[in-house]
Amino acid sequence: MADVKKLYLKTYGCQMNVYDSERMAEAMGAEGYVTTEVLEEADMVLLNTCHIREKASEKLYSDLGRLKPLKAGKPDLKIGVAGCVAQAEGDEILRRMPLVDLVVGPQAYHRLPEMVRRQGQSVDTEFPAEDKFDHLPQRKGKRGPTAFLTVQEGCDKFCAFCVVPYTRGAEVSRPAARLLAEARDLVERGVREITLLGQNVNAWHGEGPGPRGLGDLIRALAAIPGLDRIRYTTSHPNDMADDLISAHGEVPQLMPYLHLPVQSGSDRILMAMNRKHTAAQYLDLVARIRAARPDILLTSDFIVGFPGETDADFEATMALVRAVGYGAAFSFKYSARPGTPAAEKAPVDEAVADARLQALQALITEQQRAAQAAMVGREISVLYEKPGRMPGQMVGKSEHLMAVFLDDAQGRVGDLVRARVLAAAPNSLSARRLPG
Ligand code: 5AD
Ligand code: SF4
Repeated sequence: MADVKKLYLKTYGCQMNVYDSERMAEAMGAEGYVTTEVLEEADMVLLNTCHIREKASEKLYSDLGRLKPLKAGKPDLKIGVAGCVAQAEGDEILRRMPLVDLVVGPQAYHRLPEMVRRQGQSVDTEFPAEDKFDHLPQRKGKRGPTAFLTVQEGCDKFCAFCVVPYTRGAEVSRPAARLLAEARDLVERGVREITLLGQNVNAWHGEGPGPRGLGDLIRALAAIPGLDRIRYTTSHPNDMADDLISAHGEVPQLMPYLHLPVQSGSDRILMAMNRKHTAAQYLDLVARIRAARPDILLTSDFIVGFPGETDADFEATMALVRAVGYGAAFSFKYSARPGTPAAEKAPVDEAVADARLQALQALITEQQRAAQAAMVGREISVLYEKPGRMPGQMVGKSEHLMAVFLDDAQGRVGDLVRARVLAAAPNSLSARRLPG
């Protein structure tokens, strides 16, 4: 097959980028490209980038720098930059890195094949009127037991630190009928667990008849035979509608896990961040969610060192973490992003921010260990995702999204089994399969 070309695709950042990369690979598949893990044999290199923090953004330029020798020895090699850095920096990328052939934003990547066919450099960072999902090839073939499904994109919240409203654009919900069809198709191809994705996933809303809010959509998805597990991420506290909270108590397929970023525990900082809720409102929400689903595991994102954050503000964050008790959380040092309102403000001293990050991460690690340890002796369900490194070993995820290792020589990827937890390590559980 002389005309098969190879695509090397590297994904940075969030789960939506993982989903987008998969769709871009499929779009390029229709052009005769197969993906490769070996950079040196690629005919095209596509970097699907993240702009959320400076470090993530800068990674693109260091990776592009490393591609220079490869391109020098292989002038026909196409190099593409996709994702949120592409959106934010556009043709600036071509100016800084002339080896790049094409730059495509997250809303325009259905046009990637035609950009690749074109000679010379091109940039497309439009927010086109047409829906990219209508122009992407039908997904084909058998696939693994878990999949992402983008239901909503963009964000209208404009948190003062965040680039997402600028790179991903305004909130758009995909129509329910399309989502249900895509989910059915995924299930037919072997998927048993779907994670619904959106920058503001719980702001999803349906038009016309059919599901209206995310809770409704989840109930409709739960009616698909063979779809055993549903998750969704990422949620904003202010969009946790009552019917979504009640779905956690009523829909068995909806997993007892919720990523609910709060960013800070200080009302002053929450206000400066434009989060539009207080710490007390968040705690009240957590109580209502736990009333609906007592065993739910909560996770969050935190930013430390936001401009103006005092020791007292940081202590309020620590107090909130103690009050909630998280199963896991991501914490980041504030990174000023060009074009966001907070970037105008004076930064917190770097060493102070570092110390706060360390203290917060230590507390979160302690809570994560406690959550893992609390699983020992419990009966859980595990969806096998891959064979383990040891012979006869399987690795999967529990309802609470914890990695689980089991000895199960008969086990196959895609099995959903009952198991008893034997022991807990900081980042995984070991368990014994139960009969039935
Ligand atoms: N600096 C540090 N962290 C940030 N996040 C978003 N923007 C920034 C920034 N400018 C974090 C938030 C968000 C997560 C995806 O990334 O915690 O929830
Ligand atoms: Fe960014 Fe999330 Fe705030 Fe939207 S809600 S601006 S994506 S942090």
